[in-house]
Amino acid sequence: MSAHIRNFCIIAHIDHGKSTLADRLLEHTGTVTLRAMKSQLLDDLALERERGITIKARAVTMRFNRGGKDYELNLIDTPGHVDFHYEVSRSLACCEGVLLLVDAFQGVEAQTVANAYAAMEHNLKIIPVINKIDLMHARPDEVAEEMMNSLGTDPDECVRVSAKTGVGVDELLDAIIEHIPPPTGDPDAPLQAMVFDSNYDDFRGAITYIRVMNGTVRKGQKIRFLRAGSNHDVIELGRFAPARESCEELKAGQVGYLICNIKSLGDVHIGDTVGLASAQGTTPLPGYSRPKRMVYCGLFPSDGQDFTELRDALERLAINDPSFEFEPETSEALGFGFRCGFLGLLHMEIVQQRLENESDVDLVQTAPNVTYEIINKRGETVSIRKPQDVPDPGDIEEFRQPIVRCSVIVPNDYIGAIMKLCQERRGIQKSQEYLGAQRAMLTYDIPLAEVVYDLHDKIKSCTKGYGTLDYEMVGYEPADLVRMDIMVNGNRVDALSVVCHRADADRRGRAVAKKLKAEIERHMFEVAVQAAIGSRVIARETVPAMRKNVTAKCYGGDITRKRKLLQKQKEGKKRMKAIGNVEISQKAFMAVLSDS
Ligand code: GTP
Repeated sequence: MSAHIRNFCIIAHIDHGKSTLADRLLEHTGTVTLRAMKSQLLDDLALERERGITIKARAVTMRFNRGGKDYELNLIDTPGHVDFHYEVSRSLACCEGVLLLVDAFQGVEAQTVANAYAAMEHNLKIIPVINKIDLMHARPDEVAEEMMNSLGTDPDECVRVSAKTGVGVDELLDAIIEHIPPPTGDPDAPLQAMVFDSNYDDFRGAITYIRVMNGTVRKGQKIRFLRAGSNHDVIELGRFAPARESCEELKAGQVGYLICNIKSLGDVHIGDTVGLASAQGTTPLPGYSRPKRMVYCGLFPSDGQDFTELRDALERLAINDPSFEFEPETSEALGFGFRCGFLGLLHMEIVQQRLENESDVDLVQTAPNVTYEIINKRGETVSIRKPQDVPDPGDIEEFRQPIVRCSVIVPNDYIGAIMKLCQERRGIQKSQEYLGAQRAMLTYDIPLAEVVYDLHDKIKSCTKGYGTLDYEMVGYEPADLVRMDIMVNGNRVDALSVVCHRADADRRGRAVAKKLKAEIERHMFEVAVQAAIGSRVIARETVPAMRKNVTAKCYGGDITRKRKLLQKQKEGKKRMKAIGNVEISQKAFMAVLSDS
């Protein structure tokens, strides 16, 4: 029945050529003609093009005739970045095979290994593919060996291609048909379809991407999202070929989309199961979980008036991106704004960039922090999303932080530098393996807060850009953490509190106090800037008193010049925040927050 169907993903490290290969497959199967071919069709968000990273999984159906037989090949695109692990795993659950794509020059990278392991966990057939064999410095034989050492693939099975020139792509299509098993599943069984992606269309609402595992879904039926518990009518269903192509039904083994007049992506959960509303007791497919926000930061409009504008912009974003969340937050220093949760650092960067592109709001962003857990003296476990919520030291029984397992792949020359870096970041080494004669994979357990801080940048800079990092969550572990506050004349500045390791508190406290001192203008009285843990002061700086008279310079009688100066000072005041009796400019907060 479904013997002619093949469902597969391409997994690859960023820039190894996934989008280019997808383009070639579309072209060689005649799905898209060369003339109509816009390069890199699958990366359709403008921002993705800008950043060159596939953010959201997409799917496309290719029809292909080989040896007189018609085949239906469904290519499911997956994001390559660590932040989107869960989405990758849901896409893999919809496939029977993967193309494991590795650059013939760069070789195996950290994300390649992580994603290949994920494919193995899903028992998928792996076709190793070496891309960019046209490059002058291509070293396909060595890369095949690296793949064997790190991933256990057979060098003889590697398909060698150039996604750029098209060499080897026909052989790859043969390998897909020959080696990837067709889907199993009974079209007459009760409907079970996996939601593996969704996007938002301004006219049609949510478009839900599904893979039918069992049964058949038809236009006009009433379906049910089993985990979300909501019922909807199927208004349209179909396939992407690559444009939307509606049809009457999708059967077990097929991949396509559903449109049900759903107004927000928040109602569609990736990993959810679609069943028939009428069928009682349909079992949900395994592996569902809610996206976990690992990184938080505050976003504030730099001018208080933009608050509603910022809220509207955030709401628009959330409709399109269910893994992003936000809630209102008030900060004494920065005014009204929002606390926002992200899957990881890259996700945060993308959201921020979209906000800037799509609205005119000028943003202040507070330093990113991770979610901590505290067991208080009453034995309750409390989840902490912002430093201000950490209770006083006397109330804390145990302070816990998220730990991630980091895999770093580097050329052998840089092993020492990476070890030093990971140790400085409180990492605990778990293993060290050699992938070939030249490269090694180091595995460390490191606090997520240290990774979020700047680990990725540091790895790049101490390996001349050759090192790659991937991480996965291990869990929460107790640590000697403290909340460090910044006080100005005895008043706590909420936006500047941070959670850090006790051993780092002195150094960080001194640095912030010094920086803030430099940014505070002199007042009529002395201003004390202190860093403190609970009531214990760990650093102090003093801004000396000075009587400031801006018009003193205007010795002449030019009254207009005096007025101008006073006006300027008044405008400056609007951007001042009062901390107790001390006025601090927004610029000062931004300077301290930008790299504290
Ligand atoms: P992300 O979407 O960022 O994950 O990247 P990707 O893996 O989709 O890579 P993409 O297809 O964007 O290719 C990255 C770069 O490699 C582009 O500049 C391509 O033109 C180039 N490239 C892809 N395949 C080949 C190839 O076979 N040979 C050569 N010489 N260059 C290639």
